[in-house]
Amino acid sequence: MGVRHFLEVDDLAPAELEALLDQAKRWKRDPAAVPRLLDGRGVAILFEKPSARTRVSTEMAVHTLGGHPIYVRGEEVGIDTRESAEDVARTLAAHCTIIAARVFDHQLLERMASVVSVPIVNLLSDRAHPCQALADLLTLQEDLGALEGRRVAYVGDGNNVATSLAFAAALSGLELIVASPPDYELDDDVVDRARNLGGTIELIADPHEAVRGVDAVYTDVWTSMGQEDEAQQRRAAFAGYRVDAGLMATAGPQARFMHCLPAHRDQEVSADVIDGPQSVVWRQAENRMHAIRALFAALVPNED
Ligand code: CP
Ligand code: NVA
Repeated sequence: MGVRHFLEVDDLAPAELEALLDQAKRWKRDPAAVPRLLDGRGVAILFEKPSARTRVSTEMAVHTLGGHPIYVRGEEVGIDTRESAEDVARTLAAHCTIIAARVFDHQLLERMASVVSVPIVNLLSDRAHPCQALADLLTLQEDLGALEGRRVAYVGDGNNVATSLAFAAALSGLELIVASPPDYELDDDVVDRARNLGGTIELIADPHEAVRGVDAVYTDVWTSMGQEDEAQQRRAAFAGYRVDAGLMATAGPQARFMHCLPAHRDQEVSADVIDGPQSVVWRQAENRMHAIRALFAALVPNED
């Protein structure tokens, strides 16, 4: 079998996604059952952008599988300045069983994937955040069981997190409602691709209409890493899209609040919501490790 990369959630078939989430839940319940699949092997963890959750959870996932995580900063290796992204990837692949990377430009991951025969895992790009979406599905399954027909409203920027959530929803039977201000909606090709995967995805401009009766309300920052120059205009555009107590009241008491973090309590979410009883954000953060550990195990099958 050829190498499997994980650049977006739909690199997995629905049955593979389900098996991965089951594995993550089994190992979360019984950490002693986690096999040393990466015994003696290196996993490169390359970051062009800051991270708290992704770095720490990925390092712990590798560690608990018996492997050695090697943190590499983008500016240290000089991607496309000191040497080409392809040559960086070839070098890391010579020593590592997996290359996991957080990059500005998604195409960098595709270029790396085209020249190496070890899995490239997307730890966030301008386009996608698939490892986050795996943890989000895990979190929702823990609360709801089967996700078929359950409904999540994403309120905010149609960004990398929203994109991967759309594909994750499509593959797991979750219905997704997305409320974004004009010019910040999910790209049409993302919506089409999610629908082609069988997903039910609805775009509704009014956040109150979008969240009514849903199982979860999800939001993310208004200004993503790399968009800092646009922060002021984004604050103005998103002003009506804050998830606050009023919006959660419209959603209803059954609705969880979700956020990939980091969060801005004065912007996309109010403190009483993110720090309140409906919030599951810290379990999402915890589940990052469980999700990526199961992903690594799926990408690097036991060779015994
Ligand atoms: N959610 C997430 O990816 O967090 P970090 O940017 O801190 O890794
Ligand atoms: N959309 C955010 C997610 C951070 C985890 C960003 O790209 O900065």
